[in-house]
Amino acid sequence: MFDELPLLPPDPILGLLSRFRADPREGKIDLGVGVYQDEEGRTPVMRAVREAEARLLDTQTTKTYLGIAGDPEFNTRMLGMLLGDDHAALKDGRIHGVQTTGGCGALRIGAEVIRRARPAARVWVSTPTWANHMPLIGGSGLQILEYPYYDPSTHGVDFGAMMSALEKVPAGDVVLLHGCCHNPTGADLTLAQWKELTALALRAGFTPYIDTAYQGLADGVDEDVAGMRHMMSEVPECVLAASCSKNFGIYRERAGGVYFLAANRERAEAVLSNAMAAARQIWSMPPAHGAAVVAHILGDATLRADWLAELAEVRGRIAAMRELLARSLAGNGAGIDFGFVTQQKGMFSFLGITPAQVTRLREEFGVYMLDSTRINVAGITPRNIDPLASALHAVLAGAAA
Ligand SMILES: Cc1ncc(COP(=O)(O)O)c(C=O)c1O
Repeated sequence: MFDELPLLPPDPILGLLSRFRADPREGKIDLGVGVYQDEEGRTPVMRAVREAEARLLDTQTTKTYLGIAGDPEFNTRMLGMLLGDDHAALKDGRIHGVQTTGGCGALRIGAEVIRRARPAARVWVSTPTWANHMPLIGGSGLQILEYPYYDPSTHGVDFGAMMSALEKVPAGDVVLLHGCCHNPTGADLTLAQWKELTALALRAGFTPYIDTAYQGLADGVDEDVAGMRHMMSEVPECVLAASCSKNFGIYRERAGGVYFLAANRERAEAVLSNAMAAARQIWSMPPAHGAAVVAHILGDATLRADWLAELAEVRGRIAAMRELLARSLAGNGAGIDFGFVTQQKGMFSFLGITPAQVTRLREEFGVYMLDSTRINVAGITPRNIDPLASALHAVLAGAAA
């Protein structure tokens, strides 16, 4: 049976992590993998998560299955967090969905439902986008196409090119958007741009498919999703895939959800039944623990306030590291102004250095980043900034020579 199966190369991000772990050098620096790290380089369990877990341990009475759609309280509270409790889509009963195994599960069930609804729909993704979007969405059988997004010369969104490309997307196709903290570039749309894009979606008739995995890591839990909320108050249909991995720091618990905005209540129920059927075919029932923790935190005023406070510390640390990196790279030999990293949002930025410099950083200095030059800013600490900046100065000076 398995004689002909080829040995596949490791996943590029996880492959880099293995190389980092195998590197014996003491001062090695990991800017590759996309998890938050504190000043000590640890990925902590958030205070509110610990407290919610302790309470659940005390009060849980059964381990029987959840329903196919998962924990109803989780889904309701997630929708409140994502859209705001007063959002029209909630009041009109036009949005329903299922709890999933993290954002990845959400993206896959979203794609499965789109394929059930319209097998010929193509999904347009930004250039670049998170590498895992292709297998997660393409794996359902949908065709993927790309639209321009990032302009390396400005380190920002090429909104003109994006809009002209999306202008030509036929009605019935799907456009994948990042709710905030674009992965891998850190370049986000402004609220004004979300509004223009919403008008275009209405004109062109494409369906937005929004992936939100970093709510609260840029400017605030509400601020980060203002654009997405606006879009979802205007368009008739939308798919929203959400992850709790980063903003609750519960990566391994695999909590997320996918929610479908439909033209009316009856359509929303039909879509939900298809999402449940798709989930039943893949994992049957979602895992309980992570979603129970999130539901508990969002439903308890004290825990919620503490979670919001710790999340503010997280984004404050990331913003501070962005400032520190830009300052530390001032006067580099290649004459690059790294001020742009302070404008970008969330955990990631593209440094925009050359592939040879990425290799040199890894091999000579033990500094690991993706070949695309994506760095996880949360991998920077007050302790490693000096060796990191020296390594970057060294490779950038080499470039100018
Ligand atoms: C853009 C984006 N979407 C979705 C996810 C899914 O995350 P998870 O499945 O770990 O919740 C990630 C995780 O890195 C991501 O970066």
